[in-house]
Amino acid sequence: MAKVLVTGGAGYIGSHTCLELLNAGHEVVVLDNLSNSSEESLHRVQALASKTLDFVQGDIRDQKILDQIFQTHQIDAVIHFAGLKAVGESQQIPLEYFDNNIAGSISLFQAMQRARVFKLVFSSSATVYGESNISPLNEDMPTGMPTNNYGYTKLIVEQLLQKLSAADERWSIALLRYFNPVGAHKSGQIGEDPQGIPNNLMPYVTQVAVGRREKLAVFGHDYDTPDGTGVRDYIHVVDLANAHLCALNNRLDTQGCRVWNIGTGNGISVLQVKNTFEQVNGVTIPFEFVARREGDVATCFADNTRALKELGWTPKYGLEDMLADSWNWQKQNPNGYRD
Ligand code: NAD
Ligand code: WQD
Repeated sequence: MAKVLVTGGAGYIGSHTCLELLNAGHEVVVLDNLSNSSEESLHRVQALASKTLDFVQGDIRDQKILDQIFQTHQIDAVIHFAGLKAVGESQQIPLEYFDNNIAGSISLFQAMQRARVFKLVFSSSATVYGESNISPLNEDMPTGMPTNNYGYTKLIVEQLLQKLSAADERWSIALLRYFNPVGAHKSGQIGEDPQGIPNNLMPYVTQVAVGRREKLAVFGHDYDTPDGTGVRDYIHVVDLANAHLCALNNRLDTQGCRVWNIGTGNGISVLQVKNTFEQVNGVTIPFEFVARREGDVATCFADNTRALKELGWTPKYGLEDMLADSWNWQKQNPNGYRD
């Protein structure tokens, strides 16, 4: 069993990962500045696990807090989720993104090195793949120049980590390229809780279903896809959380830096998401077609063979589970953690 520092552990993917870590018997320390989350998620994680974790409210750019954590706790490995993730916002306030995501990551890696902790799992994104690649995307395909600053920060941190592990063989790093995380824990106690108007499809759909938004705008229906709407690889957040545990186990006794795609390998269209959500949950989602959203690609889904083979990870949940669980969370928490 390991003692794991989880940065950004109060967030959507982080909270689900903390729960799986506790359930598997690991010890957890969370560092989160709560800029996009609430401590309530961690209260619920601890209640669900009937176990406690240590929470430190603070910023990954704060070297003093980091040193304090590494001095107080015998950390074996770090799972690094902390960062900003809104694509549109990253175009408006690029420096915030460079500072939180790039400078913040460097600050964390420096503190890890001072503390001689060299095992790391990093949240990357399928957005780092070049647009000319054709799905299914595999890890050997070239990365591109992301069209937005958020994606750029992920690419830069990936490259920094590759160079770091090439220069210093003590590092053992997993770069997980997530596809589209959706869903929530079966209990409906923890889930995705975006501030303001959701940027992503799934929270938008659930907010329409619960009456917080009038209708879904489907961005483009003239793509070269079976029904004309965008195709993505949706992955249940609990499957994604478990991929971190598999990557952690893999890295505990291996050196170097390795990339893994974390997706189901299934391409699902926006209309399929909407229609299946209606069928599974017995609710209607009013919608309209609008223009394409700038920067969107027609199709993006994973070749996940490497993760299945090397990590011994298997996604368990299908689209219907993802949509039922997203709705179960939203229904029980119409205003997220702010109830
Ligand atoms: P989230 O916003 O719910 O979680 C991120 C957490 O990090 C939040 O709790 C936030 O308060 C915290 N945080 C932000 N900046 C911080 C800082 N400087 N110091 C300390 N804490 C800070 O997002 P999420 O969806 O859980 O994403 C987790 C990670 O996965 C992010 O790095 C994100 O870029 C990456 N990712 C997410 C998706 C997705 O679609 N959700 C896809 C690919 C990659
Ligand atoms: C999915 C599909 C939209 C909203 C983004 C980031 C990516 C990663 C995951 C972090 C697309 C369509 C959406 C809406 C719609 N994040 N859509 N109406 O764009 O695949 O990926 O989140 O790393 O970097 O770019 O996800 O959920 O925004 O969109 O029609 O209101 O739904 O056009 O086809 P995306 P998404």
